[in-house]
Amino acid sequence: MSRNRFGDKVIIVTGGGSGLGEDYCKAFCAEGGRVVCADIDAATAARTTQALNKAGGTALAVTCDVTKAHDVERMVEEALHAYGRLDVLVNNAGVIRRRSLVGTTEEDWDREIDTDLKGPYLCARAAVPHMKERGYGKIVNISSVAGIVGCISTAYAASKAGINGLTRQWALELAPHGIRVNSVAPGYTATPINEKLRQTPAAKRIGETIPLGWGKPADMTAAVLFLSANESDYITGQTLAVDGGL
Ligand code: NAI
Repeated sequence: MSRNRFGDKVIIVTGGGSGLGEDYCKAFCAEGGRVVCADIDAATAARTTQALNKAGGTALAVTCDVTKAHDVERMVEEALHAYGRLDVLVNNAGVIRRRSLVGTTEEDWDREIDTDLKGPYLCARAAVPHMKERGYGKIVNISSVAGIVGCISTAYAASKAGINGLTRQWALELAPHGIRVNSVAPGYTATPINEKLRQTPAAKRIGETIPLGWGKPADMTAAVLFLSANESDYITGQTLAVDGGL
């Protein structure tokens, strides 16, 4: 595999400061990409970016709450200001609250839908005009198996199923502009988002229901980089489950 697969590319990763997003940022940098690591948590974005630049990568930290249109527009402007172009948007920032239907409050619903569904819409809306200008772009939405088979949480399942629908809608609408839109639906993968869950007996039980067991960040990263690279240019509108057969 070419170490320079993203040599001419600029990539925004939302929620890039920790967990899977951090792994995507590292992998893009390792393959020559110039990365914008955007996160609501300024400290994690700064820490991740410093480590990437120290290791010889090119990365910019942007503090951005994906639920706020103003923040998102500024994130895209900062990417263009720093690097002059934008090739790939990875809509990764996400939150989860593990609640039953009856246990879900309106506040839970709003927070998860705002972050996991409205956030990707705001980010795509801000990024697409620049991709259209150049007649090329890639959007990789991070969904979840929860959006395909259901599990865990009412609002989370709804937002991730919504992401799969948006992926198909945007693929259709943006294909004439050379913009490809796909999503990756990770299965259970050890990251900070499920740190508490992994300390309970449920984590082992969940692992036993997955034919190939829990996933590693590298498993998701391989799929995200493939759908971000030129080699997948004839693929659009797909949701790729990377879930060990769940
Ligand atoms: P994580 O909690 O480790 O990372 C999420 C990142 O998003 C954090 O850096 C956080 O600060 C950032 N973030 C949260 N709200 C934000 C906002 N409003 N604006 C900007 N940044 C924000 O979680 P993880 O596991 O890395 O998840 C990343 C994505 O993968 C999420 O969309 C999640 O739903 C999805 N996913 C993860 C799975 C897993 O098992 N870890 C399984 C299926 C999907």
